[in-house]
Amino acid sequence: MNFKKIIKERRSIRKFSPFPVDQELVLELLHAARLLYPSREDVAFRCVYAGTMDSRERLAACMLEPLEKNRLVKWLPEKVRDFVRKRVTDIPGHLMIIASTDADRRKSDNNYAAVCGIMQNFQLLAWQRQLGTLWDTEPMMQSKELFNLLKMNPNERLVGIFHLGYFDKIPKARARTRAEKKWTALSG
Ligand SMILES: Cc1cc2nc3c(=O)[nH]c(=O)nc-3n(C[C@H](O)[C@H](O)[C@H](O)COP(=O)(O)O)c2cc1C
Repeated sequence: MNFKKIIKERRSIRKFSPFPVDQELVLELLHAARLLYPSREDVAFRCVYAGTMDSRERLAACMLEPLEKNRLVKWLPEKVRDFVRKRVTDIPGHLMIIASTDADRRKSDNNYAAVCGIMQNFQLLAWQRQLGTLWDTEPMMQSKELFNLLKMNPNERLVGIFHLGYFDKIPKARARTRAEKKWTALSG
């Protein structure tokens, strides 16, 4: 496997084709992503997958609810509502990744970082199978309604939602900051 090439070429996908995503493939990629993450300790996380039209509709409703409740956007035009609903329901799969937290800050941070590492592995493995991902952390996703839908406990944290699907076009890469610009050598 050419890791360097996959890391360099993988792009976030925002425009998905309607081709369905097999739930078995998502599970297979998750297992592989976990195995590729070396950790002596158990990594505490769980996932919720929304792949059916019904579950995507429920997810969309959760995302729209806070907007509709918000006094400032009470006039939310039908068009905008439909746009958000369609955007969520048109995407073939959504994978919610939830990490456990701990009263011990170090333990909690280590676990969160491990989950992020596994998620990056997942993105790379998915790319190898021509499956596109978008790692979503928009505040709109962090709503009470969504937390209820995911049956989240107070000791859990939603790390992100992967929007999943196949794609026709690979987007152009964004310009990257050269490593040297973020580099300081400790002198003395
Ligand atoms: C931790 C993390 C959170 C992200 N959250 C969002 C997000 O909320 N919305 C979004 O459009 N993209 C999000 N992205 C995707 C990045 O914007 C994307 O990686 C960036 O545009 C670079 O594009 P590339 O992945 O094609 O290289 C996130 C990526 C990471 C790693």
